[in-house]
Amino acid sequence: MYVMKIVQQFVIVIMKEVLHVWSAFSQRKVSEGMIGSFSLNNSQKGSKKNKSIKQALSDLDYNVFGTAHSVPGLSPYKLLPLLVVSVFCSEIIIMFALHLFPALPTITEAFVDATMLLVILSPTFYFFHYRPLVAHYIQRKNIIDQLVESEEQLDLTLDAVNDGLWDWDFKAESIYFSPRWERMLGYEPGSIEPKVSSWDALIHLSDKKKVFRDLDDHLLGKSEYFESEYRMKTKYGDWRWILTRGKVVTRDLENTPLRAVGTNTDIHSRKVAEEGLQQREKDIRRLSWQLIESSEVESKRLAQDLHDDFGQLLTALKLGVEMIQNHQIKEEDELQFHCARLLGTVDRMAASLSHVCDNLRPVMLDDIGLIATLKWFVKDMEQQAGTVKINLESPADQKRLPPDVELVCFRICQEAINNALKHAAPTEINVKFRFGSKTATILISDNGKGFDLKKLKASETSHWGFGLLGMNERAAAVDGYVGIDSTPGKGTRVEVVLPVFID
Ligand SMILES: Nc1ncnc2c1ncn2[C@@H]1O[C@H](COP(=O)(O)OP(=O)(O)OP(=O)(O)O)[C@@H](O)[C@H]1O
Ligand SMILES: [Mg+2]
Repeated sequence: MYVMKIVQQFVIVIMKEVLHVWSAFSQRKVSEGMIGSFSLNNSQKGSKKNKSIKQALSDLDYNVFGTAHSVPGLSPYKLLPLLVVSVFCSEIIIMFALHLFPALPTITEAFVDATMLLVILSPTFYFFHYRPLVAHYIQRKNIIDQLVESEEQLDLTLDAVNDGLWDWDFKAESIYFSPRWERMLGYEPGSIEPKVSSWDALIHLSDKKKVFRDLDDHLLGKSEYFESEYRMKTKYGDWRWILTRGKVVTRDLENTPLRAVGTNTDIHSRKVAEEGLQQREKDIRRLSWQLIESSEVESKRLAQDLHDDFGQLLTALKLGVEMIQNHQIKEEDELQFHCARLLGTVDRMAASLSHVCDNLRPVMLDDIGLIATLKWFVKDMEQQAGTVKINLESPADQKRLPPDVELVCFRICQEAINNALKHAAPTEINVKFRFGSKTATILISDNGKGFDLKKLKASETSHWGFGLLGMNERAAAVDGYVGIDSTPGKGTRVEVVLPVFID
């Protein structure tokens, strides 16, 4: 009866073990219960966050029989004496057992001895060898799974932040570039030789000095991180702004760097936007300076106009009136003659005043509208220019635009036509108006000399007047924009688009 119960318990234990081992292999990832069963305790599992995976694997391999076994701290060194003691104890038990059956033949004794030894030692082998090995296998598999998972996470993160990875081995004089690092510059992964010289060769010549100064500072321990913004050449020959950040992670006893790792970030769009802003700031500074200068010039010109023309006429008028007042004129006819002369002077004064005012702001603009004012202006300019033909094409439906927009249109057309006459020596200038539902578009083109706008903007020395800048600023003030397209020898096109919200 007792024997049956013992056998029953034994079978249950064996079946449980088989079940554990089978489910552990089939699931790979060990559940909490299984961890308890195989002693993969929480401290080991949690250690993945604190320890590097490489370290965890090497610890695991070293303590394969120790940490994996249900007896904590049992190292391979303790396992051998345990085995010797087990064999010794087993043999004593067998010797006693055989002693009870002295009549057995030697061959049977040897067979019983071997069988019993096997039976007694098998739990020892199972619990101290097979079970730890299974647990070790599962733990290793888990750690490798974590490694793959964290590598995937790193790849995804680097992809999301648009970063490429580099890893520099100073001893081997090689540098690993991640696929993203190479793709950032248009290269297929693996096509750049993993050498520092490959990186060096792609850096813009003007940025090299600064990049290597920043790098040296870090390698010599003067800065905590290496960080530099510079241009790199792409596969297609253009330049992209890159931000490199990195750090030496291993140094030898003499503090010589052994390994450095870091990232490359594509900051091209930000840099281009920054450069645009800087250029705009520069333009605005120059514009405000020109504004001050030109208002001085304008005041002088106004004073001159008033003095030379209006002032002279006023003096003539004063003299005429004084003559009448002093009764110097005796005859009625003579009086009539002088009065007519004085009225003529008054007319000329009115004309002179109107000319001055027109220069300040054309009064016609408010009275008769933009198109009619431009027609008058174009005719006036054509007369002054002599041989140049100026065509104005406007829609039949001449809508009135908001007063500020009309003034902006007029001033931009005035400047564009003036520029064409002043710089381009054209034979023809065309001004075309188009009204859309939300915008007014004006195109002023000439068939003159043309110019290189890029060169003009880039050059510090070439003349960059108030006119083009003023056009842009005037348009921007009413949320519009000006596009200038010019090629030397092929004339100039100035396109102005202004928003107009009229019902
Ligand atoms: N239609 C054009 N054809 C040829 N060159 C032009 C034309 N418009 C502008 N330019 C060139 O662009 C330069 C800048 O023009 P901008 O109107 O800003 O200055 P400006 O006419 O020289 O002086 P300002 O307008 O201040 O009196 C000119 O000096 C000229 O070289
Ligand atoms: Mg000009």
